Amino acid sequence: MDKITLGKLAAMVDEQVVSAPGVARQPRALVGNTPVLWVGEPFAPAGSGFWAKLEGCNPGGMKDRPALHMVCCAEQRGDLVPGARIIESTSGTLGLGLALAGLVYRHPVTVVTDPGLEPIVARMLTAYGARVDLVAAPHPIGGWQQARRDRVAELLAAEPDSWCPDQYSNPDNVDGYESLALELIEQLGVIDVLVCAVGTGGHSAGVARVLRRFNPALRLIGVDTVASTIFGQAAGPRLMRGLGSSIYPRNVDYAAFAEVHWIAPAEAVWACRTLAAGYHASGGWSVGAVALVAGWAARVSGPDRTVAAVFPDGPHRYFDTVYNDAYCAEHGLLTAPPAEPDTLAYPTQRQVRSWTRCETVLDPSEFTPEPAR
Ligand SMILES: Cc1ncc(COP(=O)(O)O)c(C=O)c1O
Repeated sequence: MDKITLGKLAAMVDEQVVSAPGVARQPRALVGNTPVLWVGEPFAPAGSGFWAKLEGCNPGGMKDRPALHMVCCAEQRGDLVPGARIIESTSGTLGLGLALAGLVYRHPVTVVTDPGLEPIVARMLTAYGARVDLVAAPHPIGGWQQARRDRVAELLAAEPDSWCPDQYSNPDNVDGYESLALELIEQLGVIDVLVCAVGTGGHSAGVARVLRRFNPALRLIGVDTVASTIFGQAAGPRLMRGLGSSIYPRNVDYAAFAEVHWIAPAEAVWACRTLAAGYHASGGWSVGAVALVAGWAARVSGPDRTVAAVFPDGPHRYFDTVYNDAYCAEHGLLTAPPAEPDTLAYPTQRQVRSWTRCETVLDPSEFTPEPAR
């Protein structure tokens, strides 16, 4: 038995969730125990590489884990009463997880999103029983994310007992990744470097915290998109979804990061397509961005270090963006990335437009004016 601890399995059998490894008695047993894949050249030099945790092997992706955890905790605390509606803002991944959590815990779900949501995800959310509510225009300062959050507030006010998980600041989002971290320990042993995309900050904070119990010297590398405000750059139009933000999410654990890398869309596209062609495992914007940085981390860390990277989802929803030649050509995304990232001494030194790293990681709400939340 290599993917699940005996204790965990015994607990799940007791709860009648599973009857044996690989046999799910209930849909929630499909979440977790995702594989890791070794990724080497051309991301890292011969003899070195990193382990990719393939969270796309969950039914909806990585956020199935925090979705189930947030809903379960809210029920236990009495914040979410039986049958009450769950309403949340999401770029899609958490929506898929909440649709599953709604089924498991018997709650209707409304997912507030924006026109950037891929049609395939909108249709799957509907098929899984969620109501999809689309905002029409971005907020003048806080962008689409703020517009979605304003709409969530409106819907919550209109429906008594409805509940919002608030993935941006709910600590249960962070705690929901304990299982992912424990699986990594079981699969890989002690981990030296962890590379994570950052959107709400949930999985980077949650996985790193548990891994540090086993290795206090763990180096956490955050991966953001250009034109995202999370690590102190100015907001701008963003092509990449999933990672990045136009607000300052409270779940980002700034003190936990050794450094941050900003990645441009063309660089992520190159990495996604290279992964697909060379490893038959890929994903979307965040997967490509994380793979590029994890390959760099493997190179600079040396072959005796264990580097792990979280791949939050799989490739399918990106068939008409990352994997569409016409879309990529139209947006100028078919170029190879530089061999090395550029470097900033501090996050606001200048606005970055391509792969850049910075070892000074600070909470921007403490050194720039607070944008509207
Ligand atoms: C595909 C994808 N990648 C990465 C992230 C960022 O993860 P987190 O919100 O845990 O920081 C998200 C968040 O929505 C996502 O959907």
